[in-house]
Amino acid sequence: MNKLTLIQPDDWHLHVRNGAILKTVIAHTAKQFARAIIMPNLNPPVLTVGQAMDYRSEIMQALPANSNFNPLMTLYLTNRLTEDEVKKASKSEYVHAIKLYPAGATTNSDSGVNDFKDIYPILETMEKVDLPLLIHGEVTGNDCDIFDREKVFVESSLNDIVKRFPNLRIVVEHVTTKEAVDFVLTASDKIAATITPQHLMFNRNAILAGGIRPHHYCLPIIKREHHRKALVEAAISGNPKFFLGTDSAPHLTGAKESSCGCAGCYSAYGAIELYAEVFEQAGALDKLEGFASLYGADFYQLTRNIKTITLQKQNWTVPASYQVDDKTITPLKSSEVIGWKLAS
Ligand code: NCD
Ligand code: ZN
Repeated sequence: MNKLTLIQPDDWHLHVRNGAILKTVIAHTAKQFARAIIMPNLNPPVLTVGQAMDYRSEIMQALPANSNFNPLMTLYLTNRLTEDEVKKASKSEYVHAIKLYPAGATTNSDSGVNDFKDIYPILETMEKVDLPLLIHGEVTGNDCDIFDREKVFVESSLNDIVKRFPNLRIVVEHVTTKEAVDFVLTASDKIAATITPQHLMFNRNAILAGGIRPHHYCLPIIKREHHRKALVEAAISGNPKFFLGTDSAPHLTGAKESSCGCAGCYSAYGAIELYAEVFEQAGALDKLEGFASLYGADFYQLTRNIKTITLQKQNWTVPASYQVDDKTITPLKSSEVIGWKLAS
């Protein structure tokens, strides 16, 4: 197959930051995706519907002229979130979910939740007003091995939340393990998951074998090969519980190439092309449209997109870096070749 036309995809998990980084990265997302769920882990975080609206305006202003891209906003769940704010969010046509970070789990998650029991009243309200909960599914703390943090979270906290709030729609964000895939598969149809390109493409050797590669460091950390295989199987299964969420998370090159580098891979520049390669290698290009363009919209109860995009089988070389003022962002697969290209 040399050409692939798809209903325009959406990105159901995206970090676009603000200021100069936002200006660079939003154009990359908007040229491929119709909509994206925008993560609220700014510094300071997006806590209220008012702040989400301000952030949305900033994103709209940063978009290229004539773009129809629609940013779907989220709130950051802290102990301070009130039930009134949840109700307000559920009535807003611009806010689509609330994101739960365990405190300290990842980049800008210091305001996250320490003890989930403290937020049960909020989850109950979300369940009532049918506002989806997006979960970064990892336990924190140094007593748990970093490669086990998702698995332990699924067995402990997630199981508990799902049992306690059976009607709460939950997206287990960026699943990275077979255990998380199996959990989602056996859970009710209220439970779905996003999968990133890096977790489909790489196993943990990509971070550590032959040298430390900071541009492959993201959280949850990339796991062993059998987990990668389970993720590919889930993505190409045609099961609507699994859909596209890049978790594209730009950091300046200097912040990643450091003695304590930040977590996050930058993939928005070519995300749909990266997924196309994965699906092609798995012999499942026919399953890409459901995963990338249909199932997420259905889960979020939004209309499916109508326009289409076309990908061509054509090699192109990823730039070494993208400019942000006088600094750069180093993309995933920097200076490497991708075999599919979005037709302009
Ligand atoms: C994300 C970021 O940089 O904001 N980093 C990452 O490694 N994925 C945060 C997140 O989604 O965990
Ligand atoms: Zn993320």
